[in-house]
Amino acid sequence: MGKLKDIPKIDRPRERFLEKGPDALSKSELLAILIGSGIKGKNVKQLSEQIIRKFGDKFLDITVDDLLEISGIGEAKALQIVSALALVRRFYEGLGPKDNIVLSAQDAVSLTSDIRDKKKEYLVCLYLNARNVLLKKEVISIGILDKSIIHPREIFGPAVELRAAGVVLLHNHPSGDVTPSKQDVEVINKILEAGKIMGVNVIDFIIVSENDIHSIFIDIQTSESKTTHYVSDGVQNSLFDLLEAERPKYEINGERIQENYFYIPQVKKNHIQLQNRRYIGSKHKLIEWIFSIITKECEKGNSFADIFAGTGVVSAVAARHFDEIILNDFLHSNYAIYHAFFGSGEWDRDKINNIIKDYNNIDSGGLEDNYFSEYFGGKYFSKSSSKIIGFVRENIEENKNNLTSKEYYILIASLLYSIDKIANTVGHYDAYFKKDHIEDGFFMKPIDPIEVKKVTIYREDTNLLAKQIKADVVYIDPPYNSRQYSRFYHVLETLTKWDKPKLHGTALKPDPENMSDYCRVQAKDRLAELIRDLNAKYLVVSYNNTYDSKSNSSKNKITLQEIEKILERKGKTKVFEKDYRHFNAGNTNFNNHKEYLFVTKVDHE
Ligand SMILES: C[S@@+](CC[C@H](N)C(=O)[O-])C[C@H]1O[C@@H](n2cnc3c(N)ncnc32)[C@H](O)[C@@H]1O
Repeated sequence: MGKLKDIPKIDRPRERFLEKGPDALSKSELLAILIGSGIKGKNVKQLSEQIIRKFGDKFLDITVDDLLEISGIGEAKALQIVSALALVRRFYEGLGPKDNIVLSAQDAVSLTSDIRDKKKEYLVCLYLNARNVLLKKEVISIGILDKSIIHPREIFGPAVELRAAGVVLLHNHPSGDVTPSKQDVEVINKILEAGKIMGVNVIDFIIVSENDIHSIFIDIQTSESKTTHYVSDGVQNSLFDLLEAERPKYEINGERIQENYFYIPQVKKNHIQLQNRRYIGSKHKLIEWIFSIITKECEKGNSFADIFAGTGVVSAVAARHFDEIILNDFLHSNYAIYHAFFGSGEWDRDKINNIIKDYNNIDSGGLEDNYFSEYFGGKYFSKSSSKIIGFVRENIEENKNNLTSKEYYILIASLLYSIDKIANTVGHYDAYFKKDHIEDGFFMKPIDPIEVKKVTIYREDTNLLAKQIKADVVYIDPPYNSRQYSRFYHVLETLTKWDKPKLHGTALKPDPENMSDYCRVQAKDRLAELIRDLNAKYLVVSYNNTYDSKSNSSKNKITLQEIEKILERKGKTKVFEKDYRHFNAGNTNFNNHKEYLFVTKVDHE
């Protein structure tokens, strides 16, 4: 029977759904998931394509009898489809215009799904009020987009009439390629200029095709509007992410703290320090505040566990106060970095410096293409740099027997930090800039290891680890939103593991691994289990207040109130707050952004 599993993996709708979400799938692919299997001689994809073709715009009114006319659809499948349609209709009937709130690129796309498979180019404008409620949807033009044809009046005329606070523009590419064309960029620039003059916020410009969405980043911080060609899979961050986060409905009464902790980072010329990397959620800039609180609130203890350690910067400072440090993160790249910086074991500084010196003398002209350059060359890195990176990584592996374990990890970490300096990205690998020319400039520097009295390093799921460890202070800094770290830093993961998997999509990601429940709806339950299982004298939890963010992907998964409630079960909890400028695609100032630190003194019977 023609089942979904018979379709080549890359084309399988279920896989694509899990990887990119429903908006990345065509109507027939979504239907294929619902139907599940085909019949002999007609696989499920062909069957669903046939249904979509046959009923077209009448699909929503389809009956069981209509479906039974199609060979391959029996009564059970027909009922499945018709019930799903009836269910969706039932929910939609209950919705009024007040529910048409556009808070994300996905919301905008779902309001204009009719243009996704049009054969002609459409430009559609959504007019929104100050609370992002849809006031009107208007087709601005049909036919090739051209700046000489599109007049801003057509967009901003209705905006003035409707007193709209913002507009979202959507444009379809019938070719299927959602990369902005030269004409698109010219039109966007013209619209942005006009929006500025008219005082109407151009919230986003989204290019859609049947299977893909591309939301254009606009740098609202520069006075000169600029569009960035940004290439990624499916839905990516958009200007929604750059909008100011709203003040949380739940204002937590956080104690403010007089900072009295002075953090002096290590500085050794020509060496890379632990904090010298771009990492979402790094607490490097908050470290003085965090340790002002920890040193004031937690009685002196011996051991400190950093169980969502990320960059490890919190552990690096903890190592000055505690004799024993436990570090954990489930990413392979972070695990290698911890071994390099904190790990015990012999290593020879001159040997490392000489190896790195040799790597820096490599001429890419003499190198063949390799795994790394074939996938990432001309995308995340220049062709020449990527050839050297792939060569160096291979060489470290081939030389493994001549290196101690610490030396091996020092070389890997030095490579990971060095590539971060030249990556053609905003700092993570969900997307890369589309450029004709990417600067070369690969230059490897050695990392500078840190002295720690006693360290244990894990690469475990935190909830499993919680049952195994014990520490005086456990620091808990989970992801706050649905952005998966393993997907954001997949290039570092691929380079560390070096098992050379097949990579998929525009962003060239491997099959999913280490997908965190803290980025999903289960986050609250996982945190409750984690807190319940941890054996510590003090629990210190970091979280921020972006849960009212307008972008779905940057909305918080757990509210501050929920965290406080979970912690109170374990002991008396104090909350500290700090105003903070938050990372957001490198650009935004979240005026209302606050960081919170919860400190719980655990009750012991
Ligand atoms: C907010 S970051 C931590 C940042 C860190 N405190 C710093 O200063 O760099 C969260 C980290 O948790 C890791 N993580 C997420 N879910 C995890 C899980 N279930 N088990 C282990 N690590 C996890 C991610 O890989 C990420 O590095």
